[in-house]
Amino acid sequence: MATGCCAAAVLLAVALVLSAPDATEAYDSLDPNGNITIKWDVMEWTPDGYVAVVTMYNYQQFRHIGSPGWQLGWTWAKEEVIWSMVGAQTTEQGDCSKFKGNIPHSCKKDPTVVDLLPGTPYDMQIANCCKGGVLSTFNQDPENAISSFQLSVGLAGTTTKTVKLPKNFTLRGPVPGYTCGRATVRKPTMFFSADGRRATRARMTWRVVCTYSQFLAQKIPSCCVSLSASSSNAIVDCPTCSCGCQNPNGTNCVKIHLIYGPGKWTGEPLLECTPHMCPVKIQWHVKQNYKDYWRVQITITNFDFRTNYTEWNLVVQHPNFDNITQLSGLNYKPLTPYGGGINDTAMFWGVKPYNDVLTQDGTLGAVQAELLLRKDSRTFTFEKGWAFPHRAYFNGDNCVMPSPENYPPLPPNASV
Ligand SMILES: *[C@@H]1O[C@H](CO)[C@@H](O)[C@H](O)[C@H]1NC(C)=O
Ligand SMILES: *[C@@H]1O[C@H](CO)[C@@H](O)[C@H](O)[C@H]1NC(C)=O
Ligand SMILES: *[C@@H]1O[C@H](CO)[C@@H](O)[C@H](O)[C@H]1NC(C)=O
Ligand SMILES: *[C@@H]1O[C@H](CO)[C@@H](O)[C@H](O)[C@H]1NC(C)=O
Ligand SMILES: *[C@@H]1O[C@H](CO)[C@@H](O)[C@H](O)[C@H]1NC(C)=O
Ligand SMILES: *[C@@H]1O[C@H](CO)[C@@H](O)[C@H](O)[C@H]1NC(C)=O
Repeated sequence: MATGCCAAAVLLAVALVLSAPDATEAYDSLDPNGNITIKWDVMEWTPDGYVAVVTMYNYQQFRHIGSPGWQLGWTWAKEEVIWSMVGAQTTEQGDCSKFKGNIPHSCKKDPTVVDLLPGTPYDMQIANCCKGGVLSTFNQDPENAISSFQLSVGLAGTTTKTVKLPKNFTLRGPVPGYTCGRATVRKPTMFFSADGRRATRARMTWRVVCTYSQFLAQKIPSCCVSLSASSSNAIVDCPTCSCGCQNPNGTNCVKIHLIYGPGKWTGEPLLECTPHMCPVKIQWHVKQNYKDYWRVQITITNFDFRTNYTEWNLVVQHPNFDNITQLSGLNYKPLTPYGGGINDTAMFWGVKPYNDVLTQDGTLGAVQAELLLRKDSRTFTFEKGWAFPHRAYFNGDNCVMPSPENYPPLPPNASV
């Protein structure tokens, strides 16, 4: 009886431990505070509502929203309408049949807003708008990590007491996976004039925080890692079917010679046929092993004929990243996700305009770089896969790694 109860308790505890993370929370241990914050500043009250500027900040270290861009939605708390918008538009006008003469931009209860495209006429722009919904990371492109639009809301409250905050915010990108919290009222934002000599205040400010979860996105992996070492001439390729399997009849991928050869190719499918079937492969090659240093060559290859990865980034976790002494061909930023002393994660991205776009497969479909790392003689060893990364993310997606028992052998002692 007693043992029965405790075994059950232990089982329950194990179940909780196994199911607690990932499943419910949008939490990424390499970017624990990553979020997209939406700030909603009421700039002035109008006879039947207010004019607000909505600004989105991408506070994620290595996850951006690429083309065709973000879609922001919410549900109005009352019968609000949007009279007009600058720098963005709703995807649908909805039913405005009860309005005569002056017709609102949108009467939908749950509008969806999208950014305008670059090249929008000046009178329809505001600062930070009109980037086709692309939201970069602050690390890669701080100017484009912010997106704004203005809207004039009618049939709304006209004071801080009577206005009702919109509900049910949703943020969608080209891939799903974001969840947004409730809007909360914050201290009104201060705005400073260009010369810094005058400050004004928003009439009211609220904020919504949205976070990404790979679990919610439920995406099949989109990248894999292949490992090799010059010393052993061995290559351990991406695990077979890392991102899916080839159909037995080969209809979900295409052989490269069919594209560039005399035959014609009409669109589908997108991927080059490979055993791993991933659109992106990261090759981690231990190239040289000196007494005090070792050299790694990283090659990123695009196997997707339909996609150019603009503003791509790669995040790698490796215990020796506290002393990268040389890097050629890429930008680099150390990430210290756990704060304090642990400095084992690095973010890499391309140099504009030289290799910031990982172009579609073909002659230009790869980016290559070399790292020189200094060995810490107290802890350095080439044993047990030490020379290989623990984790790799491409554009924020966790890449499939070979299993450790397959890691290529490395020399036990440093030699040239
Ligand atoms: C969102 O990101 C900002 C900037 O990193 C951070 O200050 C804030 O605490 C984050 N919010 C949440 C709820 O994680
Ligand atoms: C918010 O969304 C949920 C799920 O989509 C829905 O059940 C709920 O009714 C919505 N709330 C409002 C106020 O629209
Ligand atoms: C090839 O595979 C696809 C997907 O599994 C299937 O729909 C199609 O019928 C197959 N074609 C032939 C000729 O077997
Ligand atoms: C990708 O970029 C290349 C080179 O700039 C261009 O020729 C190609 O059309 C682009 N492909 C797509 C799918 O955008
Ligand atoms: C992490 O390591 C890099 C060198 O690889 C160094 O430039 C950076 O200052 C280190 N950061 C911390 C917080 O120790
Ligand atoms: C990093 O390497 C440099 C020499 O390249 C060395 O002087 C420094 O002490 C090393 N730093 C750490 C944290 O190991």
